[in-house]
Amino acid sequence: METLFSLRDDDEENGVDEAKMLLIGDNGETFSPLRDGASELQHYNISSLQSTVVIRQLTSQGLSFQLWPAASTLVSLLDNHRRDPTTSPLASTLSSTSPTMNILELGSGTGVVGIAAAITLSANVTVTDLPHVLENLRFNADANAETVARFGGEVHVAPLRWGEDGDVEVVMGRGVDLVVASDVVYHDHLYEPLLKTLRFMVTRMRLDGGKRLVFVMAHLRRWKKESVFFKKARKVFDVDVIYSDEPKEGARSGVMVYRFVAKQLNQNGRIVSC
Ligand SMILES: C[S@@+](CC[C@H](N)C(=O)[O-])C[C@H]1O[C@@H](n2cnc3c(N)ncnc32)[C@H](O)[C@@H]1O
Repeated sequence: METLFSLRDDDEENGVDEAKMLLIGDNGETFSPLRDGASELQHYNISSLQSTVVIRQLTSQGLSFQLWPAASTLVSLLDNHRRDPTTSPLASTLSSTSPTMNILELGSGTGVVGIAAAITLSANVTVTDLPHVLENLRFNADANAETVARFGGEVHVAPLRWGEDGDVEVVMGRGVDLVVASDVVYHDHLYEPLLKTLRFMVTRMRLDGGKRLVFVMAHLRRWKKESVFFKKARKVFDVDVIYSDEPKEGARSGVMVYRFVAKQLNQNGRIVSC
C-alpha cells in the first residue's frame, strides 16, 4: 500500500509525505485510502439517478489528487438524500436553502463531492482548491459536464486559498447558500487559515442581508490535536454531528459529518450562545 503514494517535491523538502501521513493516526492507528491507487479513473455510482461520476485521481502527485473516505461518505449521503429526502441526515440543512442552491466547496481535491452535489441537488456548485490543483479539478468537471447538465446542475472551478480574503470575495460574488468540505482538517498549520476563511464568509453573509453561514463538513478524525480546530470553530458556529459512519476495522472512529451554523448575533452585535 505504501508504494501507492510517492513524494511531491515540496513534501521532500519537508521530509514528509503528506499523503502517507494521512494514513497514520495517533498511536500508529492506520486508515485505508479510499480506492485502489492502481487505477487512476474511478467511477462512483449515483444509484438514485442511475448515473455515474467519473473521477481522475493522480496518486503520484500528492494528497490533493487522491480520493479520501470522507468524500465518499458525503457522496453517499447526497445520493441517499436524492433517493429519500425525508430520512436523509441532510434534510434539515438542504430544506432551508433556496430552490437552486449555490454551493461552495472548500479544498475540493478531485472534486467528487462538488460534482456529485451538482448532479444530485441540481445545484450551482463552485469547486475550489489551491492553484496547482485546479487543472485536475477542471479535468474532472469537464469529464462530468454532460451528466451535471442533464440533471440541471452547474460546476464552476475557482482558486480559493484558505486565509486569502480576496479569493473568497471573488467566489462569493454569485451568492452562497451552503458551504461543503471533506477531509480538510489535518495539518495543524492549516487550521487557522481555514478558520479565517470561514469567519470571513460568516461576516460577509451577515453584511449581505443577515444570512447565517451553514457549513457541512465530513471528517475522519486521525489525531487528537484536531480538537483545537473544533474548539476554535465553536466560538463562531453552533456545531452538530448529523451523521457518522461505523468505524472501519481497527479504527476508533468512522467518518463524521458535522453541520456548522454561524451563531446568531444579538442587537449589540455580540454572539448569542446556544
Ligand atoms: C485531504 S485532501 C481532501 C480532498 C477532498 N476534499 C477529498 O475529500 O477527497 C485536502 C484538500 O485541501 C486542500 N488544501 C490544503 N491546504 C489548502 C489551502 N491553504 N487552501 C485551499 N485548499 C487547501 C488540498 O489541496 C486538498 O485538496
